[in-house]
Amino acid sequence: MCGIVGYVGDEEAAPVLISGLKRLEYRGYDSAGIAVLGKSGLAIRKSKGALKFLEEKIAGELKEGALNGTLGIGHTRWATHGEPSDINAHPHTDVSGKIAVVHNGIIENHAKLKEWLISHGANFRSETDTEVIAHLLNFYYHGDLLKAVIEALKRLEGSYALGIACEDEPDRIIAVRKECPLVAGAGKGENLIASDVPALLEYTREVYYLEDREIAVLYRDRIEFFNAEGERREKQSSHVEWDAAAAEKGGYEHFMLKEIHEQPKALTDTLRARIKTYATKTINLEEIGFDQSWANANRVVIAACGTAWHAGVIGKYAFERFARIPTEADIASEYRYRNPIFNPRDIFLIISQSGETADTLAAMRMAKKNGNRIIAITNAVGSTLAREADLVMYTWAGPEIAVASTKAFTTQLMCIYLIALQLGRLRETVSDTELASCIEALEKLPEQAEQILAGKENIQRFASQQFNKAKVFYMGRLFDYAVSLESALKLKEISYTHSEAFAAGELKHGPIALVDETTLVTALCTQTALFDKMDSNIKEVKARRAATAVITYEDVDYFDKTADQVFRIPRTLDSLSPILSIIPCQLYAYYCSVLRGLDPDKPRNLAKSVTVE
Ligand code: F6R
Repeated sequence: MCGIVGYVGDEEAAPVLISGLKRLEYRGYDSAGIAVLGKSGLAIRKSKGALKFLEEKIAGELKEGALNGTLGIGHTRWATHGEPSDINAHPHTDVSGKIAVVHNGIIENHAKLKEWLISHGANFRSETDTEVIAHLLNFYYHGDLLKAVIEALKRLEGSYALGIACEDEPDRIIAVRKECPLVAGAGKGENLIASDVPALLEYTREVYYLEDREIAVLYRDRIEFFNAEGERREKQSSHVEWDAAAAEKGGYEHFMLKEIHEQPKALTDTLRARIKTYATKTINLEEIGFDQSWANANRVVIAACGTAWHAGVIGKYAFERFARIPTEADIASEYRYRNPIFNPRDIFLIISQSGETADTLAAMRMAKKNGNRIIAITNAVGSTLAREADLVMYTWAGPEIAVASTKAFTTQLMCIYLIALQLGRLRETVSDTELASCIEALEKLPEQAEQILAGKENIQRFASQQFNKAKVFYMGRLFDYAVSLESALKLKEISYTHSEAFAAGELKHGPIALVDETTLVTALCTQTALFDKMDSNIKEVKARRAATAVITYEDVDYFDKTADQVFRIPRTLDSLSPILSIIPCQLYAYYCSVLRGLDPDKPRNLAKSVTVE
């Protein structure tokens, strides 16, 4: 999740941009850059890594006044297309070097646009999708930047927030957004743009939240608004009451809650670019190199840790279900020490949010050494995993700040489903009709996730009754068992409640000995063919005086008489339900943590990235 700032006013722009970017550091980034428009034109400075490297780079020039200029745009980049590097850092410019662009989001048709622009003389320098925007603006620029922006927008598919400056128009910045955040701030004799309010608060509390495809043109003394067709709009500003710390969390109390709420958007980002519509909808993973050569594998071996391993367990069911291929999901730390049997025809799927987990990397390297091809699912472009794998599928969830993983998990699942379905296509185990209904169901998930979030008060209320329970068990069968594992982990890591997950059929083989009146048992019930089995399991724990809750579909009343509490999620295919059924469990863990007076963002003894064994 990149950060954008822009400034036009009477102050020197460079320090304003740097201080704004610092306010956006919490969003996560891997490189930074600024463009300042001064007497001798646009000066662009960029640097890989922390903002302090950019600051060090420009310190001398700032002292000498060599970077003077009162208009500028700045950016912190979280890599999506192309590794973190000085060249890939923003701002990007057109061939003339007169138009500079900073961008947050993903331009989905960038490959096609790039080809077209090259045929019209553009000369690309970076690996980013953003650079096409600069060249496109150049193509449409005939002395009026606003007109060029309007024309360019017609060609862009995907999501974006843009800040644009042009050497020939030294009095204005143009900003526009679609599905990515962007706010304009109205100061006195100065105006600003930013990805998020904290970057503006030092200068103003009067802000304009841009709507999708709305254009803001910022001058020193005014901001004008237009729709995407170039018609003028009147707009009301809002007064920000929050302090800077609250603003960083977008008004949410914690990053974890913010990230839980970001899931619909993250799922859309992960899915959309991989679905292609020609006559019918298909999954397109060829861009990442997933082609027929992967189809005649023997087996899929998944290795990962923690939450990513739970995604892998769901992957096991998904690969066997859709691609009819034997699959095992192993904990990376176990895998590396168990002298596993390798077969060069096995596909290795390595899952890691950070791409830096030591055990996961060790498992990957073992497989590589034995001649296996590696598919990585990761959220971190340029990470060790991304660099060393043969094929990388990014989750595009944006940085996850809270230690407990939420949106990384559900987007990992989205990637897994796409790979499993596509492998099924290549192996001819998924029919056209099944593919169509799966794609339709996948496309509904973001909106369905939104519906679950809209009902979060029910979970909060339930948590306020149960948060002091001594023991909380989750149980389910098949996909629901895997979600139980993740739910128990979420609860234990942030609320320090003793929680366990069981395959419901295992209950009578041991765990039921622990069940008494101090226990809450939550049953995940989305595997329709097994409802009667789950019903019996719930009755068994109820008979031992446990409190019981069920998570099932909105149209299922099967458990109404058995369970004390039923939470409903929208109807989807049983095999895709984990993306939805985990959300109430994430919320439950979050609320229990808060009710116990803990900080869910920073659980004790845990680190976000485990780079040591
Ligand atoms: C749990 C959690 C951890 C990580 C695990 C692997 O909420 O965040 O269990 O999932 O440490 O991390 P990555 O995915 O970065 O390899």
